[in-house]
Amino acid sequence: MIKAVIEGIGHSVPPKILTNADLEKLVDTNDEWITQRTGIKERRICGPNETASTLGTAAAIEAMSVAGVKPEEIEMIVCGTVTGDYPFPSTSCLIQLAIGATNAGALDVGAACAGFIYALDVAASLVESGRYKTVLVVGVDVLTKFVDWTDRSTCVLFGDGAGAVILKARTDTDRGLIKTVLLADGTGAKHIDLEVGGSKYPVAAEWSEGHRKGVYMNGPEVYRFAVTAMGDACCRALDLAQMSPGDIDLFVPHQANLRIIRAAQKRLGLPDSRVFVNVEKFGNTSGGSIPLGLYEADKEGRLKKGDVVMTVGFGAGLVWGANLIRW
Ligand code: ACO
Repeated sequence: MIKAVIEGIGHSVPPKILTNADLEKLVDTNDEWITQRTGIKERRICGPNETASTLGTAAAIEAMSVAGVKPEEIEMIVCGTVTGDYPFPSTSCLIQLAIGATNAGALDVGAACAGFIYALDVAASLVESGRYKTVLVVGVDVLTKFVDWTDRSTCVLFGDGAGAVILKARTDTDRGLIKTVLLADGTGAKHIDLEVGGSKYPVAAEWSEGHRKGVYMNGPEVYRFAVTAMGDACCRALDLAQMSPGDIDLFVPHQANLRIIRAAQKRLGLPDSRVFVNVEKFGNTSGGSIPLGLYEADKEGRLKKGDVVMTVGFGAGLVWGANLIRW
């Protein structure tokens, strides 16, 4: 049986930090509200020359170096992002050029905050099919360039960041992706959106006037959905794998809101020691969030080869899903 094994992981965040105190000067908010409601203390913000492809490229280069993989060995690049440099070309193509992956195909996967969950499963399927041996998976978002900085209910939530992994085909191990659950419910499309910039409301069209140019989110509605969806996706993935929460060595959930993370943790009955949290440092980095969490957990020595990792995410779509991985 061919397994899709994570052989290297990398990350990238922009150096500029925006703290809650900085935000107090921009909008009518305060550190206490943001901390209590979300757990976020600061986030990273891209400058004009930092984009989804530049962050994704830096993360990819680190992942390749850790895995000992040369650019020309990569056969496919799958990038989970909804904030690519352009509507087209794809961000994965820009990364392909930047890293010199001259033998690779490239595609983007648009699943918002579940972008890495989806991208990893697409990539793992290619590997497990036997048709691809080495695939680069990137999760990246730069949502701070798309938020309305006068809307305090959304602008405090997001940050920019990227993570990347190298997946390799192996037959001599039980490491690799164990099971994935991917789910979607378009009836919730209205709860998180960015109206202008697509084919319905093109930037230059006169009928786009009056439509939103920044991220809109019905926070309480998404919160209610997320609390149930996170736990459900995890339980379904565990059922498929015939495992139970007790088998999870580390839970690395999407870092959107500490209260949502704690609700999922409670549903799974996990102690704090088996839950990874870095939302206080980065906020919600959407497609970057889960690989950034995996990267930091690995660096902190909280992930050992053979450990069972459960990741779970949810976002605009609505979409949600979970990956069970043997690290
Ligand atoms: N500072 C101070 N007060 C604020 C702020 C702020 N930044 N934002 C909102 N408030 C106020 C509101 O105006 C409201 O005041 P009111 O009661 O006088 O009307 C009050 O705080 C409560 O607002 P709620 O929206 O009900 O606050 P809630 O407890 O639901 O927390 C939050 C809001 C943090 C957004 C929460 O709903 C949430 O985390 N939702 C999920 C978001 C998420 O995870 N999204 C992920 C997907 S994103 C993607 O896919 C791109």
